Amino acid sequence: MEERLVSSGASSEDVSLEYSLRPQLLRDYIGQDKVKENLKVFIEAAKMRGETLDHVLLYGPPGLGKTTLAAIIANEMGVQLRTTSGPAIERPGDLAAILTSLEPGDVLFIDEIHRLHRSIEEVLYPAMEDYCLDIVIGKGEAARSIRIDLPPFTLVGATTRAGALSAPLRDRFGVLSRLEYYGPEQLAQIVKRTADILGVEIEEAAAFEIARRSRGTPRIANRLLRRVRDFAQVKGDGMIAYALGVEALESLQVDRLGLDHIDHKLLRAMIEKFRGGPVGIDTIAATIGEEAQTIEDVYEPYLLQIGFLQRTPRGRIVTHRVYEHFGMEVPK
Ligand code: ADE
Repeated sequence: MEERLVSSGASSEDVSLEYSLRPQLLRDYIGQDKVKENLKVFIEAAKMRGETLDHVLLYGPPGLGKTTLAAIIANEMGVQLRTTSGPAIERPGDLAAILTSLEPGDVLFIDEIHRLHRSIEEVLYPAMEDYCLDIVIGKGEAARSIRIDLPPFTLVGATTRAGALSAPLRDRFGVLSRLEYYGPEQLAQIVKRTADILGVEIEEAAAFEIARRSRGTPRIANRLLRRVRDFAQVKGDGMIAYALGVEALESLQVDRLGLDHIDHKLLRAMIEKFRGGPVGIDTIAATIGEEAQTIEDVYEPYLLQIGFLQRTPRGRIVTHRVYEHFGMEVPK
């Protein structure tokens, strides 16, 4: 199987390495200045009042640092972080068990919160609003509801699709923060920081080259850095010089804009089979053998952002930039 440099989730290598690479405090977190500035105020205010922080919803494309921010929020508040995800919570009882085991002030992080079942969401409403659980025991005539108090806590929810969240759930978050794609300068800074932690020397120009090819996404930048480091170790002297970096990135099939073989397959299929569109997402997915949801969540947002794709009511179309990028003649 070809290695995936872009993915919806993190590989096991990512999970262990990324945790040690992650900044622990807001002041070490690079980029997302507006989100950071605001969170700093809300955290400080909550601490001054001796209260828990209001619930926070972090949304935006994958790999931009939502999990990292959740951990930073817990750290800055001086409380424990408890982590789970929408798909991991199968029954209302699973969530009740987590909620009743929280310590006062804890941060509960629910990743992919848009994937919570409706019946489980309903457990969350009173928990978020009044720090309590309403549990129905018994059946029929004998059924009655009991109320269990919970410790005050902060829910940090993360989602790639804020639009997929139900309105009642969305409305219960006091802080809504949208994470944006990072610029090359910020990504280069992140690459240099990570290289420093990994103990590998990297030329400024090489850090920028990795940054430019990372689709605005720190997770991709750090992953590319680790792969380029492998090349430097095996084919060079361990130092990441510019020329070696470029060669490694070409070898990894990551092009000048950070597009990989799946982006290429998608864009070329749209041009060659559908004359550049409009074509529906399900048709594109079936043509290239990827899941429509993966295309929508992982590939498409960046292609829209750089103006390579446009959404129309009749489907997606490729823009003239794609033809230019591939060195093709732009159709009239
Ligand atoms: N590593 C991954 N994302 C980061 C960020 N935003 N700031 C610092 N280091 C990071």
